[in-house]
Amino acid sequence: MTQDELKSEVAKAALKYVTPGTIIGVGTGSTANFFIDHLAGMKDSIKGAVASSIDTANRLKRHGIPVINLNDVDEISVYIDGADESDHKLNLIKGGGGALTREKIVAAVSHQFVCIADETKLVDSLGKFPLPVEVIPMSANYVKRQIIESIGGNPVLREELTTDNGNLILDIHELDIVDPQDLENRLNNIVGVVTNGLFANRGADILLLGSQNGVNIIKS
Ligand code: 5RP
Repeated sequence: MTQDELKSEVAKAALKYVTPGTIIGVGTGSTANFFIDHLAGMKDSIKGAVASSIDTANRLKRHGIPVINLNDVDEISVYIDGADESDHKLNLIKGGGGALTREKIVAAVSHQFVCIADETKLVDSLGKFPLPVEVIPMSANYVKRQIIESIGGNPVLREELTTDNGNLILDIHELDIVDPQDLENRLNNIVGVVTNGLFANRGADILLLGSQNGVNIIKS
């Protein structure tokens, strides 16, 4: 199977975590897009979906799936989204598509977070994938200096990208992430940082991993 076929298979397997009659959260990226396409087949069984990006909202709408504003929602049964990396404890790096802040908000509201990924995303230790950090535009150089001085790694401004929230992204290369939760907190403490792509304080509850031998289920 190709990587796209693995993503599609794992996205299809996530349908069984969708509770009928509820509002679900939907993530961003190519794996989440496969999920949306599969979800279209059972769209009448859910009340609607909260989207983690404008792209996701548009794709949901194209399929006729109602998109609901998060402020109109008290609870979300399950959040289904991809990841750039997951370790074996289901700490994640996300934000390769630049949607990390809205993804983190929707994940925080959701009772269950089901991460869907192909087998290349499972790693022993996070950090080979550059860690995205969303920053308020005027703070970008300050945050960059603070990361170099107090965190380490090599922060690089992502060219030609403005997030859905009107902000910029710094990608931190060459990071050795020993304690994901501590690093998530320390980065979020830098003035000007909106949030970062470490999902450790709220990691995934379940990782569905698409492999050549089928979909493996890993629980945190
Ligand atoms: C977007 C994300 C995505 O979940 C992550 O980049 C994985 O994307 P893909 O499913 O295309 O591999 O965090 O901000």
